[in-house]
Amino acid sequence: MTSSIKPKPGLTFSLVTVILLAAGSVTFSAEIPQPQVAQDESLNGQRNDPPPPGAAHFEDCATLYPLLYWTNAVQDGVFPIKPESSTDHFDVYCDMTTDGGGWTVIQRRVDGRLNFDRYWADYKNGFGRVEGEHWLGLDKIHNLTSQNSYELYVELQDWEGNFAHAKYGAFSIGDESTDYTLNIGGYSGDAGDSMELNNGMKFSARDVENDGHSSRHCAQFLSGGWWYNNCGISVLNGPYYQPEDYHGSNTGVGVDWYYWKLSHYYSLKATKMMVRPQNFIRKL
Ligand SMILES: *[C@@H]1O[C@H](CO)[C@@H](O)[C@H](O)[C@H]1NC(C)=O
Repeated sequence: MTSSIKPKPGLTFSLVTVILLAAGSVTFSAEIPQPQVAQDESLNGQRNDPPPPGAAHFEDCATLYPLLYWTNAVQDGVFPIKPESSTDHFDVYCDMTTDGGGWTVIQRRVDGRLNFDRYWADYKNGFGRVEGEHWLGLDKIHNLTSQNSYELYVELQDWEGNFAHAKYGAFSIGDESTDYTLNIGGYSGDAGDSMELNNGMKFSARDVENDGHSSRHCAQFLSGGWWYNNCGISVLNGPYYQPEDYHGSNTGVGVDWYYWKLSHYYSLKATKMMVRPQNFIRKL
């Protein structure tokens, strides 16, 4: 009964209650807000109902989406999920509004507060806070994307207020024994296919070099973990620059998506990478 949410009147409110309680049962640090849906006044008085044992096992944000939809509570926010192979719940940021919603965010840059020049263990386990800048973690991304066939949506923002996106119809990563080898393909969008060369590549970080470059340690050279090839034409985990601090090639690559700006020397303002099952049924 974990994932098949049916839009039955009467059932929906108790299921909302279940996710609210599940949200309360995981350990939020003090500054992490509860899911926005809790503020819906129609739900007051429902929050103390005990959850049915074993409920609230949303495998990703896509599984949660119909529940929010049928209760008129569709909005972005932080929710606990539990992929099939994971033993515990963990929090993710759900983008329920972009391109039909149902997206589980795996990477986000928004203001440069978080350092992405990190070691393998951090990229494996994740870092940052899911409601702000963060990397969800390679183990979680693997568990998420191996329970179904997934797609990837990459949203980019520049410093002039423009947005662009790259959507990949297929996206998954292997487990740690494969060094989280990337499987990506089926590009569409208006940002250009800057991850084509990353397909089939292993992950590299400051202390682990798996790139396809003959001499360069790409993760050190570009200061962020990624599925580097030679070294490649995208690195969304590169160093973040405020525009006044960035001077193109004199500063370095930064947060790079070559095919949007047709340059390695434009460091982006914001990025978001998020995944959704290919068979997600759009409501909007
Ligand atoms: C991923 O799944 C494995 C089992 O396949 C499990 O042992 C591990 O704890 C999971 N990792 C996360 C971060 O959920």
